[in-house]
Amino acid sequence: MIQAIRGTKDILPDNISKWHYVEEKFKKITQLFGYKELRTPIFEKTEVFHRTIGEGTDIVNKEMYTFTDRSGDSITLRPEMTAALVRSLVQNNLLAQTKLQRLWYFGPFFRYERPQKGRQRQFHQFGIECLGSEFAESDVEVIQLADVLFKSLGITDYNLIINSLGNENSRNQYRLAFLDYLKSVKSELSDDSQNRIDTNPLRILDSKDENDKRILENAPVILDYLDEESKEHFDAVTKALNELDIDFTINPKLVRGLDYYSHTVFEFQSEYLGSQDSFGGGGRYDGLVEQLGGKSTPAVGFALGVERLLIILEQLDIFNNMEDEIDCYIVMRGNEQSIYAQQVASILRGQGLKVLNELNRRSMKAQMREANRSNAKYAVIIGEDEVKENKVILKNLKESKQEEVLLTELNGYKF
Ligand code: HAM
Repeated sequence: MIQAIRGTKDILPDNISKWHYVEEKFKKITQLFGYKELRTPIFEKTEVFHRTIGEGTDIVNKEMYTFTDRSGDSITLRPEMTAALVRSLVQNNLLAQTKLQRLWYFGPFFRYERPQKGRQRQFHQFGIECLGSEFAESDVEVIQLADVLFKSLGITDYNLIINSLGNENSRNQYRLAFLDYLKSVKSELSDDSQNRIDTNPLRILDSKDENDKRILENAPVILDYLDEESKEHFDAVTKALNELDIDFTINPKLVRGLDYYSHTVFEFQSEYLGSQDSFGGGGRYDGLVEQLGGKSTPAVGFALGVERLLIILEQLDIFNNMEDEIDCYIVMRGNEQSIYAQQVASILRGQGLKVLNELNRRSMKAQMREANRSNAKYAVIIGEDEVKENKVILKNLKESKQEEVLLTELNGYKF
């Protein structure tokens, strides 16, 4: 037997209604905020992700599915959407056409990570990106959309963690101070963190090593290095969140695992997730459009992991009453009525009802059993007499009542 690739999962029919449910919510809420969907190919030239996500990051160093295709080009299965989406906007000249672009996406992404609960090699993200505003209002709109989405799904007790990485100037100042500190404690740090000093020092703030964490307690914090402009932006974001009653916690050690961020960064965490507690994250990326060959355009967005979202929703029991109900199961006394049965099914489907026909020529008794097992509301019983007289017997399986109905009356029948 051939197995699926490690870290990938089939989404089986019994589970699909949960996916449809959250996908419908994504569509509905993004529509309320005026966001439009954008779809891009699942693979891109490697350079789309390489420099933008950053050479010192885990994603680029260890996690990308990169291969050379038959013409010798380096191709990467997308590990995230933001860089691919910006590539598409620049290529299609969309930023020149409308100053503000509000976009959303949903689809599969690929990272070669060690699989565990809530961590897969093919996973799904839902995300939004708002391009064309440098102001705090856009950071706030993005977070507000996420908040509305979570609440509409019944998630009220998530944690929003927020930080500012400031503009480039602030970040450079901070990096110098932080490097000084790191050098003074270098020998005490974990091997991983020591290696990062030269490649991506800010990521050390994110270290999961207990000893590193203790040492970092005394490290300088980025919020003390924000210049006027950066501070003003961050203050405007937190003030608005407060006024809008969106709870948050500031964590000056939050840096996120992608290099394109500036100013606001944030993550959504949930206690229902265990060690992979972050189910969404995002931030501002004012330099990315220019980096990918477009005109300098400020932007902000976020993405959430749909598998992690579903883990939370399952624990909240919100899928409890989502049985996939059938309206009618057509039961024939004999197989001679099968064409008539399919005609009747057509009439019923024309009214928007979900109807199943018997396909295995089973006995009437077996068909009735199937009708009950499939949780159908009605058994539509057909025999020789019914065919002759253009009618059906409609048996209400929930109330054990039945009546004869002419085909001509089926259209107006109140099911
Ligand atoms: P990210 O934090 O790398 O951000 O990913 C966003 C979310 O995707 C995570 O919070 C997590 O829920 C989910 N995720 C990531 N990797 C995995 C995995 N291996 N298995 C399951 N779920 C996973 C981004 O990707 C940015 N593009 C977000 C963004 C949008 N920033 C600005 N705009």
